[in-house]
Amino acid sequence: MTAIRIDRISKTFVSSRTGEQVVALKDVDLEVSQGEFVAIVGPSGCGKSTLLSIIAGILEPTSGAAYHYDAPILGPSPDRGVLFQDYALFPWLSVRQNISFGPRARGVPSSEWQQEVDRLISVVGLSGFDTRLPHELSGGMRQRCALARMLANEPRTWLMDEPLAAVDLQTRTLLQEEILRIWGEDQPPADRPAVMFITHGIDEAVLLADRVIVLGRRPGRVKADLKIDLNRPRFEHRDLAAEGVLVQQIWDQIRDEARSAILED
Ligand SMILES: Nc1ncnc2c1ncn2[C@@H]1O[C@H](COP(=O)(O)OP(=O)(O)OP(=O)(O)O)[C@@H](O)[C@H]1O
Ligand SMILES: [Mg+2]
Repeated sequence: MTAIRIDRISKTFVSSRTGEQVVALKDVDLEVSQGEFVAIVGPSGCGKSTLLSIIAGILEPTSGAAYHYDAPILGPSPDRGVLFQDYALFPWLSVRQNISFGPRARGVPSSEWQQEVDRLISVVGLSGFDTRLPHELSGGMRQRCALARMLANEPRTWLMDEPLAAVDLQTRTLLQEEILRIWGEDQPPADRPAVMFITHGIDEAVLLADRVIVLGRRPGRVKADLKIDLNRPRFEHRDLAAEGVLVQQIWDQIRDEARSAILED
């Protein structure tokens, strides 16, 4: 079943100051199946966040349309959970209040969400920290809290924009494994969410994803779409040689553009 369908989406930003136009996305077609983990990579400014924001329903395309399980995406929905790099926790709410925010906002009775929130707190390893405020947590803990907050809505689809970019390397490795476990790596695709995961880490994309999509820039478009045929669970069957070959293939696709992105910015 198709979870996300992007149908010839283009997005042009017009600067209100200078009138200058930036074509962030041009005629992008893309499908993500139910239970599929798709990573998006590409040089800075190629339109990754723009694409994710359109699927999240917080940005409208200039032309084309996006669908979630065949329904046109017209705005945000708890069905499509979003996780950004800067975690965007409510600073004045505790860990527990942040995680329970979604269910409470949707009017789920507390008898139903209390237990689930406790479970999520322990799943992301924050037991004992539930009354802390975000500024009292480390970066990795904040990101785990944000992950739990996304999961509390039981979204059918996870939209993640560089969720691990701000955490240290060790925490990142642990969270990568956690994400795959919570996603349901050992479950049949019908029982797990579709994931769109933006990252700058090509190695991370290869390690996590079933498919890696390379976006090119100026204008942003799909440049390559590679299937990652590595065994799962990935952390139990690491094949570093095979991963290395795939990383090299993907890097070959973006090297030149990544270089010009650095020079221009
Ligand atoms: N609100 C906006 N107004 C004007 N231009 C924008 C806006 N948002 C994004 N852009 C432009 O659209 C292009 C794509 O931006 P986007 O943030 O999607 O890139 P990205 O691939 O996520 O980059 P990065 O890897 O650095 O996060 C860039 O040239 C950016 O400057
Ligand atoms: Mg971005």
